[in-house]
Amino acid sequence: MTADARAFADRMARRRSVRDFATDPVPAEVVEAAVRAASTAPSGANVQPWRFVVLTDPEHKRRLREAAEAEEREFYARRASQQWLDALAPIGTDWHKPFLTEAPVVIVVFEVHQGPNSPKPYYPKESVGIAVGLLIAALHHAGLVTLTHTPSPMRFLNEVCGRPPEERPYVVMPVGFPARDARVPDLRRKPLEEVMIRR
Ligand SMILES: Cc1cc2nc3c(=O)[nH]c(=O)nc-3n(C[C@H](O)[C@H](O)[C@H](O)COP(=O)(O)O)c2cc1C
Repeated sequence: MTADARAFADRMARRRSVRDFATDPVPAEVVEAAVRAASTAPSGANVQPWRFVVLTDPEHKRRLREAAEAEEREFYARRASQQWLDALAPIGTDWHKPFLTEAPVVIVVFEVHQGPNSPKPYYPKESVGIAVGLLIAALHHAGLVTLTHTPSPMRFLNEVCGRPPEERPYVVMPVGFPARDARVPDLRRKPLEEVMIRR
């Protein structure tokens, strides 16, 4: 049991957010299995308030990138506070989002609120966050890479994905293989002694 738990932790420690994608296709069945794993997440009152829109059509991805880059240009030029820009500086991100068209798959996750065909959710943010965590773990386990991308604001995603207003965009996740020359920032994870308190 201990060996399995440690092996899983070691495997998860090798996960990184990737922003440079190869254009190689990924098996649809693998993405489907990862979404199935995500949808096993616990949720407030078991409402399961999530929707995963899987985009593979180049035209959909092109529209998504165009709209996201328009928002991000505004964000980096005007909307972000200096404090926020300073926090982003070590990661090296800017308004260019090539991964939205280069990745073979882009999953747009929605948080589903009360509507004509959906009940009121309880703790929707927490529930969808947990489901996204499982999705990230499942994709990593399958040998794929992804990025947790949060364009700000995100409402344009309803139109691009053809989803009703009670579904609120939560996160955009390009999925695929890393580009041959992909690089990731040299980040440090907090040690266990700092994040885990034993009493
Ligand atoms: C809620 C959330 C939002 C994020 N939004 C973005 C984003 O919009 N763009 C981006 O490049 N990275 C984004 N990230 C990725 C983080 O920068 C990344 O997870 C962090 O730097 C740690 O790196 P790692 O995932 O490789 O461990 C986001 C991560 C989270 C959890």
